[in-house]
Amino acid sequence: MTPYRKNKLIYEGKAKKLYTIKGLKGLLIQEFKDDATAFNAQKKGKILNKGIINCGLTDYIFRYLEKKRIKTHLVKQISPTEMVIHKLKIIPIEVVVRNIAAGSLLKKTSFREGQILPKPIVEFYYKNDALGDPMISDSHALAMKLGNEKDLLTLKKLALKINSVLIPLFRKKGLKLVDFKLEFGKDKNGRIILGDEITPDTCRLWDIKTGRKLDKDVFRFDLGDVDAAYREVSERLLG
Ligand code: TMP
Ligand code: ASP
Repeated sequence: MTPYRKNKLIYEGKAKKLYTIKGLKGLLIQEFKDDATAFNAQKKGKILNKGIINCGLTDYIFRYLEKKRIKTHLVKQISPTEMVIHKLKIIPIEVVVRNIAAGSLLKKTSFREGQILPKPIVEFYYKNDALGDPMISDSHALAMKLGNEKDLLTLKKLALKINSVLIPLFRKKGLKLVDFKLEFGKDKNGRIILGDEITPDTCRLWDIKTGRKLDKDVFRFDLGDVDAAYREVSERLLG
């Protein structure tokens, strides 16, 4: 029997819920949902078994990152859709890394979809639903006191390190890591740790041979069987 008993629901987001744990301070249970949203929740739906798939993928990828000496909030997976995590003070910045031009980059630059970027681009977005998560510069982040200069440098360094570990991991499974989003937080010692999830909700993944999209863009833009796309990523990584 798991010693981890859910206590209070303290947060419910679009894709996950967070609970405190009876008798354990400093740890939380992160539960993954099947719900899917896009365009700041203007589009809503469900993806079959997404909770199970995304929990399993995050557990696998975060354990892999830990082996490469990147600290994450993962303690352990305790059920098909739940994992125990370290409680972090979340930094309200979404860190996006891009290897290949796609998505919103096409609206900001002259790159065409699929163009390989000369080197990875790192971007910051202010995590704020009311504002629609706008892209921000370092100056904006500093002015809003989302972090200090050193924190921002650490976020960029960690994001690029994670990118360099994930590219070959996905490549071995026949997937191109086009771009992805990370969230970080500080632990009780003030150290910056990777939080949240790494899944087809938060990455663009294209089949290396055919270019087929195997991520949330299938849901965002109604490109085909999104349930099958998520299942395929899970089978390739974990199967
Ligand atoms: P973008 O091209 O729409 O800016 O997305 C960049 C990456 O970030 C892509 O892999 C999808 C991911 N992402 C999220 O995880 N959450 C979001 O809310 C958005 C807009 C993008
Ligand atoms: N998760 C975001 C939302 O619903 C957007 C996205 O992933 O496209 O608002």
